[in-house]
Amino acid sequence: MLEASPKISLTGIKPTGEPHLGNLVGAIWPALRLADEYESLYFIADYHALTSIRDPDLIAHYTRSVAATWLAAGLDPDRTVFYRQSDVPEIFELQWALSCMTAKGLMNRAHAYKAARDRNREAGVADLDAGVNMGLYNYPVLMTADILIMESDVVPVGRDQVQHVEYAADIAGAFNAVYGSQYRLKIPKALIPDTESGQALPGTDGRKMSKSYGNTLPLFAPEAELRKLIRRIPTDSTPVEAPKDPDSSSVFRVLEYLAEPEVASSTRARLEAGGLGWGELKDQLFAVINERIGGLRERYGELMEPGSELDGLLESGAEKARKRAQPVLAGTRKAIGIG
Ligand code: TRP
Repeated sequence: MLEASPKISLTGIKPTGEPHLGNLVGAIWPALRLADEYESLYFIADYHALTSIRDPDLIAHYTRSVAATWLAAGLDPDRTVFYRQSDVPEIFELQWALSCMTAKGLMNRAHAYKAARDRNREAGVADLDAGVNMGLYNYPVLMTADILIMESDVVPVGRDQVQHVEYAADIAGAFNAVYGSQYRLKIPKALIPDTESGQALPGTDGRKMSKSYGNTLPLFAPEAELRKLIRRIPTDSTPVEAPKDPDSSSVFRVLEYLAEPEVASSTRARLEAGGLGWGELKDQLFAVINERIGGLRERYGELMEPGSELDGLLESGAEKARKRAQPVLAGTRKAIGIG
């Protein structure tokens, strides 16, 4: 029997901000581990960022910064396909064809669009579509084209993106229902990748680390700044010698998540026994984080230098991506009668 070819996994990353430590352990590393099991594709969804960012320098900066982050975090461009969405024009052509198979009502129910309308309603704005551009409205169709053109089997995403992958499956189904005897698009599935511990990294206030809670630790801040940010994590006034409850300390909980298990358990014991103060605990957390991301920070810095190998890597990634996209677009065009 022929061995089945490995399944394809596709991850899209929207370049809209500087990645933080929670992104690294909660999304980047889990997505990179999938390369052991799947034929893995990763791309920077720069045209998706245009729905919210109008500053050209900022789009360009975030695009490089996100690319450098993933490479520094361990993405291997020889073993995977890594590209910029905007370098693959086939995606945008497929998007139009797919939008003609997509029910408008489906887009009306998309979470991000509904949330924008809810915000207008709450603010008392009469036109609930005020401030909504067509890019935001069509966002799920472009994402569908991203997914279907690469014949993705699985799409690793956070929970907030599961609806979009379901839309991609629906839209592929709608296409296949009409044109399936000519050409079939592969139906994708969302996959929520596991973090190492099965849980989210806690932030500086004990809640899940997230940009929207303002409780993040930066990935690539200079050492001195990282140390300062950790020093500033609020702690209570329990004296050094008093026993402390490790589980109610957000500093300890971040440390426990990132440190080697033996380090975490001896720190736990020292806190419970008394004699370990918050200041020393914070220094320990700084050391643990620095050890895990120090090398990564250096590599990131090299890749961000103008003229680094980053641009060439993305170019050869785009070539590989287009080779995959072209036959899918050709099959689709032929099926719809625009061969
Ligand atoms: N919408 C995704 C996000 O906000 C990014 C994205 C764009 C994506 N296209 C994709 C993710 C295709 C997976 C597959 O994070």
